[in-house]
Amino acid sequence: MKFFIDTANLDDIKEAQDLGVLDGVTTNPSLMAKEGITGQENIINHYKKICDIVTGDVSAEVISTDYETIIKEGEALAKLHEQIVVKVPMIKDGVKAIKYFSDKGIRTNCTLVFSAGQALLAAKAGATYVSPFIGRLDDISTDGLNLIEEIRLIYDNYGFETQILAASVRHTMHVLHCAKIGSDVMTGPLSSIEGLLKHPLTDSGLAKFLEDYKKGNG
Ligand code: G3P
Repeated sequence: MKFFIDTANLDDIKEAQDLGVLDGVTTNPSLMAKEGITGQENIINHYKKICDIVTGDVSAEVISTDYETIIKEGEALAKLHEQIVVKVPMIKDGVKAIKYFSDKGIRTNCTLVFSAGQALLAAKAGATYVSPFIGRLDDISTDGLNLIEEIRLIYDNYGFETQILAASVRHTMHVLHCAKIGSDVMTGPLSSIEGLLKHPLTDSGLAKFLEDYKKGNG
């Protein structure tokens, strides 16, 4: 399973990259705003900085909602760097744009996906990635992981190459469950990745090893 980090925070991105397990980055307008990155020029520069830090795919989201402008914006984003994947919302004009980008060889991430039907449409249009938001479904008492299972089944039935990118991942158990049910990618905060490191028996076991070494070696 690929690990993406879902943030525009450069320190967190560096930290995850340094761990050696990072396969990419996803961002969105809210995450950019959270880091105080405003104005199109600054946003563009920020994408470039992210591409300089990581070696994998970097999702850059369009803010247009009509076909013509999504195309214009997406083409400009794709030209920024070869690592850029154009993130397009799951709306009618978005699906049409994904088909256009797919035909042109521009990679896409279809975002704001909350149903298996939407994921089927994104795959039919040729999306590189589809992003079901599992945390936000959990927030409204709907099983987000169940959606990943449904999409996995549908994509496997027909051999769709669109990769399932579990988004809105909030914690390590989301990561583990996604791995068990065959999500191709997960994107979450740094804490969801670093949380996988933790086990109290590892900490106590290491403390004991070091203590015993000290006893014997001064
Ligand atoms: O990748 C989508 C993500 O940014 C949304 O996460 O935590 O705002 O639901 P969240």
